[in-house]
This record gives sequence, structure tokens and C-alpha cells, in this order.
Amino acid sequence: MDTKIRVHRAPKTLITGNNCVNVIGDEAKKLRVTKALIITDPGVAGCGTVASVETPLRDAGIDVGVYDQAVPEPPMSSIAEIVTIAEKSGYNGIVGFGGGSAIDVAKIVAALVGTGDSVEDYVGIDQVPRKGLPFIAVPTTAGTGSEVTAIAIFSNEKLNVKQGVVSPHLIPNIALVDPRLTWSCPANVTAASGMDALIHNIEAYISVNATMHTDPLAKEGISLIAKSIRAATFDGSNAWARHNMAMGSLLGGIAFGNAGVGAVHALSYPIGGTFHVPHGVANTLILPWVMEYNMLACLQWFGEIGQAMGENIEGLSEREAADKTLAALRQLAVDLEVPQYLSDVGIPVSAIGELVDGAMTQTRLLTNNPRQLTREDITQIYRNAAVRPGSKPVKGKAPAKAVKAKK
Ligand SMILES: NC(=O)c1ccc[n+]([C@@H]2O[C@H](COP(=O)([O-])OP(=O)(O)OC[C@H]3O[C@@H](n4cnc5c(N)ncnc54)[C@H](O)[C@@H]3O)[C@@H](O)[C@H]2O)c1
Ligand SMILES: [Fe+2]
Repeated sequence: MDTKIRVHRAPKTLITGNNCVNVIGDEAKKLRVTKALIITDPGVAGCGTVASVETPLRDAGIDVGVYDQAVPEPPMSSIAEIVTIAEKSGYNGIVGFGGGSAIDVAKIVAALVGTGDSVEDYVGIDQVPRKGLPFIAVPTTAGTGSEVTAIAIFSNEKLNVKQGVVSPHLIPNIALVDPRLTWSCPANVTAASGMDALIHNIEAYISVNATMHTDPLAKEGISLIAKSIRAATFDGSNAWARHNMAMGSLLGGIAFGNAGVGAVHALSYPIGGTFHVPHGVANTLILPWVMEYNMLACLQWFGEIGQAMGENIEGLSEREAADKTLAALRQLAVDLEVPQYLSDVGIPVSAIGELVDGAMTQTRLLTNNPRQLTREDITQIYRNAAVRPGSKPVKGKAPAKAVKAKK
């Protein structure tokens, strides 16, 4: 029984369903927004869907500007320019429109406007001093769950690592989750961001900080994603699959936003930060190797995860059910054609030392993990994930020595 004091946070207003984005103008007016800046990235802007938020905002009598140059896997250095634009033009509301990258950029811009601070000042837990401008999040990937979390993730180019800003002040006022907006996602983005969403649910479910509020959400999120991710990836206009993915991602965001994620994310951040591997790909790649390590600490939960994924575990021992779950996770990455080894994404064995250094700094995440990890454990996991059997090791220099990152 979980008897610890627990806090559960999420946006005050969650609006979901096909075409729900049409109500954004009315919702923005309720927040007293009169001049809104939509922040998105060039890939999303290129799909032509920005009008789906811009038009209803204008129809509600709100002045609208669009900044469409947010950088995916956003570097910290890209933020100040957008804050200056928002300040100079007097915007009093921000809309984040895109995947986790654009939403995270918009989140931090809303927090920074008018403060004179920089994103570096807010890295870590509870460093954001106050709630910023009213902020509405509209995701276009079924992935990060950023629309409901108190988290924004940035690449620190100076330290070559990804760092998180974590504060309840970052939680959007409103999340509008419209599955139709994900239909334009290409297969590789659907697969990688969808795996990220699945991993949020899985890591939240096995987190030492899982609660009675997060477990049911995480289990439902696993189920929705496991049954839909293949169809969403290979038949992108499958309305049923896109809807399930969007809801599974949303549930994962609430679950991990409160229970936290663990060693999969801790070991994937250095892969993304140093080698610029997309977040969902880095997570998928490291998932089975971390889960293999975690398994013995939580056999029963593994069986439950497998069951939620649709695996038949009837009559199996806990150990057999856990093995079956692990095999199902490996098969998913194979089916979705997402890389499964460091060598698949061009990372040389010689980089493992630097990856380990990076992972060791992710204490916020490592402490959530159901099985604690030593430096040797982390090294072994990266070694297991290093080279696809039968392929030649990647030749190359290890990256420059990573500087110890601020938590
Ligand atoms: N804040 C959080 O809680 C949280 C959680 C997990 C991950 N993240 C961060 O989110 C980022 C990853 O976000 P993501 O996986 O959603 O991908 P993303 O936002 O980086 O987008 C990936 C690519 O897909 C394109 N894209 C997005 N939506 C599209 C659509 N509907 N149609 C066509 N193209 C589209 C983008 O233009 C981009 O090129 C990483 O920086 C990661 O660290 C944040
Ligand atoms: Fe993630």
C-alpha cells in the first residue's frame, strides 16, 4: 500500500477529441488573452495546419502572431530571441503548437517573458519563480505528453547534454488534444514519438513514485498505445489508431508528470544530447536493455505491463510473463523499424564512457527507477546495446569529454 504523501498535478482544463481545437479562441478569451503568439516549428508550419489554431483565435477577436522557427530538440541558445519578440510586441498569451519540441519552447517563453531571466537560470527543480503568461498547449504528435507536464527539456550545447526545467508554473493553463492534428505525422515520427509515449506510461508504472492516481492512467495508456501504434505508423489516416495514440500519450503525460520516468530516460538523454538522436529513437533504442536490467526488481509489474499490451500471460510464472513482456517490447521496435542498437545510429563503442558520465548526472530520473544502478551497471547496459549482432562496430572518435551537468 502506498502511504506516502502524494501530490497530483495537471492542467486545470483538458479538452480532447477530433476538431476540439476549434474552441481555442473561446478558451483563450476566458484567460483574458487579447494578443496571442503561436509558437511552432518549420516542420509543423510546413503541414499547413497552423491555421487550425490561428483562425479560431482570430474569429474570437484575438490579435495573433506566428513564430514558426522553433528548433526541434530545442537548444537553449534558441530561446532568448523568441522571448524578445514576445516582449517587444506585447503578447499577453502564448500558444504552443507542435510536438514536444515546440510546446517546450513555448512553455519556457511564457515563463520567461518580462523577467529578464534566461532558460539556464531555471534548469532543475522549482527554479521558475512565478507563473508566466497564460499558456495553451496543442500537441501535433502523440508522444511527449508535454501538454500536461510541468517539464520542459532543452539541449545545453555548451555541456552537450539535455537538461530539464521542472516547475508547476510550467503546467499549461489549457491542453487541447485534437487527434486530427497528428494525422500529418510521417511514419518515423509517429513510431518514435509513439514509443516515447509508451515508455512514459511504462516508466511511470514501475516508478518508485507511482501512485493510485497514476497507475490506472499508465496501464490504460500502455493498452491504448500497444494496440494502435502499428496501425498509426503504417496507416496514418486510421482515425481509431490516431485517437488511441493521442489519448495514450495524454495519459502517459499525466502519469509520468506525477510519478516520474526512470533509467530509460536517464540513459537516453546522453544519446540525444551528445549525438542529436531524436528523443523517441534514443528511448526506444535503450528501452529493452534497461528493462532487462529492471525486470528482476519488479517481475509482477512486468507481467501486468505485458497483459496491458495484450499478451496472454495466463498460466505463466511471473518470470515467464516478464520474459514475454520483454520479448513483446523488442518485437515492437523491430516492427516499427526504429533503431535498436547504438551502432544503428552511428554511435561508436568508444563513446560509452561519455554516455555513462552523462547518465550518471541524471540523478532526478535514476532515483525513480525500481532498481538502483551503479556506474558499472550503466556501463554494462550501454555495452549490451552497443553493436547489432553481425554488424561491424562503428568507427569514430568519442565525443569531447562531457562536463558534469547541473541537475
Ligand atoms: N516536456 C515534456 O514533458 C517532454 C517529455 C518528453 C519529451 N520531451 C521533449 O520533446 C521533444 C520531442 O518531441 P516530439 O517527439 O513530439 O517531436 P518533435 O516536437 O521534436 O517533432 C519531431 C519532428 O516532427 C515534426 N512534426 C511534429 N508534428 C508533426 C505533424 N503533425 N505533422 C508533420 N510533422 C510533424 C516536427 O516538425 C519535427 O521535425 C524532445 O526535445 C524531448 O526531450 C518533452
Ligand atoms: Fe520522453
